Amino acid sequence: MKGLILSGGKGTRLYPITFNRAKQLVPVANKPVLFRVIEAIKEAGIHDIGIVIGDTGEEIKAAAGTGERWGVNLTYIPQDAPLGLAHAVKISQDFLGDERFVMFLGDNVIQGGISSLIRQFAHSDWNSQVVLTEVDQPQHYGVAELDENGRIKRLIEKPRNPPSNLALVGIYMFDKNVFTAVNSIKPSWRGELEITDAIQWLVENNFAVHPYIHRGWWIDTGKPIDMLEANNRVLAELTHTVDGFVDKDSKVDHLVTVERGAEIINSVIRGPAIIGEEARIVNSYIGPFTSIFHHTVIDSSEIEHSIVLDNTRILGIPSRIEDSIIGREVEITYSPIKPKAFKMTLGDHSKVGLL
Ligand code: TTP
Repeated sequence: MKGLILSGGKGTRLYPITFNRAKQLVPVANKPVLFRVIEAIKEAGIHDIGIVIGDTGEEIKAAAGTGERWGVNLTYIPQDAPLGLAHAVKISQDFLGDERFVMFLGDNVIQGGISSLIRQFAHSDWNSQVVLTEVDQPQHYGVAELDENGRIKRLIEKPRNPPSNLALVGIYMFDKNVFTAVNSIKPSWRGELEITDAIQWLVENNFAVHPYIHRGWWIDTGKPIDMLEANNRVLAELTHTVDGFVDKDSKVDHLVTVERGAEIINSVIRGPAIIGEEARIVNSYIGPFTSIFHHTVIDSSEIEHSIVLDNTRILGIPSRIEDSIIGREVEITYSPIKPKAFKMTLGDHSKVGLL
């Protein structure tokens, strides 16, 4: 079996964090979402993985490389424009050949334990398997309607009146018949070749599409709030270790990971949390559900339920920072000298909430 990861797209909903960077590379619990997807596919015993890339392709190639570090072979498949998930399958035909494959969206995070499902498909005679999960607002997703025998009756993309609350999770398995499907369907009203239409085509043409209902959590990290939610979930399930330095005046509980070269000086860190490589936390409080990425400095400040990317400096902030995603090489400082004023250099699309 082969793997296919979709990492094209624009990521507009995560601006400004993804304004000039791939959304699949934003770290959740200090590891890019894309790397978590590669690991999930590898765990299912798959070594040949294609990655569909778009405008941010060079950055993705530079980050993931040949795949050697995971013991897999990565092949990059350029997509001229984000013309839909089924379009991404279409352009990957040369890479996939006649093999069965599993396709993952490169920006989705799912609770583990799906490798047995992928292996099961590898040895089955189904033409496709789709992963579904119950969601609160199905109108925002691709939705499946099942018949009385639990088989797929119909799939609809973002329905106004959803026939069920079962949404398509970003994991799909197919055999070569999917290429006939993607070549038979037409673009939707939004101009995209929809994967839901391709699966619907398989259903209508009597191919065996097996639904699997996932009971664990699943998060599509489309919006900042989802990114924070994914960070919470992964931090809560991480096995925590302390490889960096914690001085005797600091309190770091057992749900905290301190990565290599990080220093915690006279600070309190309440887990679940992770402090990245070479980061420095000095005279500060880091609260639960916080990920501080590599080379970032937090001095005389308090922060919780947030993600801070690399090489950022947060110095002497008198009130607590919460529910925030802070980009790379950002500087947040406080000046006690009058006149009291906020001094800001903010990039396009930034969002700041002040007291
Ligand atoms: P989406 O979240 O549907 O699209 P997007 O990345 O353009 O995001 P936004 O709506 O915020 O602008 O894409 C899901 C995943 O699939 C994501 O990893 C990007 C990838 N993708 C492709 O590789 N090719 C495509 O044609 C599309 C539509 C998405």
